Amino acid sequence: MSRSAIDNHSHLHYRLIIFQASEATMYVCVCNTVTDGEIRDAVNSGATSLLDVQSCLPVAGCCGRCAETAQQVVDECLLALGRHYKR
Ligand code: FES
Repeated sequence: MSRSAIDNHSHLHYRLIIFQASEATMYVCVCNTVTDGEIRDAVNSGATSLLDVQSCLPVAGCCGRCAETAQQVVDECLLALGRHYKR
């Protein structure tokens, strides 16, 4: 049986990528390989909402399962910067 024949879509491959990436703390969007660091960089560069972040990063543009986590990263970053904006 070939390896692809027993692939259970466990995302183990992505966990290995995360483990090996020294600068990435966490992949928020697996579909488009967007990290929390990239989202934080976007907010630090002036993005004030997830929609702003999506204008420069492809986060939550595929299956959408990452949208809630991406929003949390945006909110945490805005809070840390002392900026509060409505969603
Ligand atoms: S995980 Fe982000 S769009 Fe699918």
